[in-house]
Amino acid sequence: MTTVSVRGATKSFGRTTALDSVDLEADPGVTGLLGPNGAGKTTLLRTIATVLAPDRGTVTLLGRDPSRPDDRTRIRERLGYLPQDAGFHRGFTVFEFVDYVAILKEMTDRRPRHDEVRRVIALTGLESVSAKRIRALSGGMRRRVGLAQAMLGDPDLLVLDEPTVGLDPEQRLRFREMISQAGEGRTVVMSSHQTEDITALCTRIAVIHQGRARFAGTPAELTARAEGRVWTDTRRSPAALAAWRTGDGAYRNVGDPPRGAELIPPTLEDAYLLLVGEFEPEVTHS
Ligand SMILES: Nc1ncnc2c1ncn2[C@@H]1O[C@H](COP(=O)(O)OP(=O)(O)O)[C@@H](O)[C@H]1O
Ligand SMILES: [Mg+2]
Repeated sequence: MTTVSVRGATKSFGRTTALDSVDLEADPGVTGLLGPNGAGKTTLLRTIATVLAPDRGTVTLLGRDPSRPDDRTRIRERLGYLPQDAGFHRGFTVFEFVDYVAILKEMTDRRPRHDEVRRVIALTGLESVSAKRIRALSGGMRRRVGLAQAMLGDPDLLVLDEPTVGLDPEQRLRFREMISQAGEGRTVVMSSHQTEDITALCTRIAVIHQGRARFAGTPAELTARAEGRVWTDTRRSPAALAAWRTGDGAYRNVGDPPRGAELIPPTLEDAYLLLVGEFEPEVTHS
């Protein structure tokens, strides 16, 4: 059974079509939504987190239909969600906040609930700051608190919206470890506008752009699409959709190579640039 199945999801806010007939499937492992700001990633993740219902289309989560109230309750019991703008109660301590979310999740028995709160605090490496107020924590630590509350009750489906944004390189590595561990045996759907996170973590990716799913597959499949379309030169090629000077002084050109160009292996970022560039040539043709 597919954990997440979205078919033809369409969602508008006034005149903005945030999702335009999007299909998405996700199974155990880490699935990444990649796309520029405003692409519709958060709207799609909120749909998967049962916060939002699409105007059209069908959503099936853990074999159930979130538009039915009792199914929705069952889904939420097995779902963890880290929103993009996690609104923390900054006056709470870490323990108090995670405990509060556990209460909202209807973990009513105090002792097993506290055991579970301590478990997720340990899992996310927050033991040493458990008694600290959230307002006194660094941004990276706060993101961990967001992950900790999402891991309560050992959910089968974990929805993480931009989990690594604003983290320094070391924190980002630690977060990658935690997310990849979470993806063992469970379905993680995360968003990022950073190709590095997606390359490092995801078993599958969907590129979301202008409210549409432009690609779905493995990172290797996306990268392969740029095969033969990246070349190196001593200058910026006029044929390039994008070109930049690299550390060694040579230009990395992405686009349609001229005859005899010195082709080099593409990266996921090249393929992503080409894919997005197909739909907005005026932006990449700078
Ligand atoms: N609650 C809302 N009200 C009005 N417009 C919204 C709302 N949520 C999202 N949008 C619009 O929908 C589009 C997609 O937004 P979003 O899903 O947040 O994209 P992303 O997460 O990829 O940056 C944007 O144009 C955004 O302004
Ligand atoms: Mg977003």
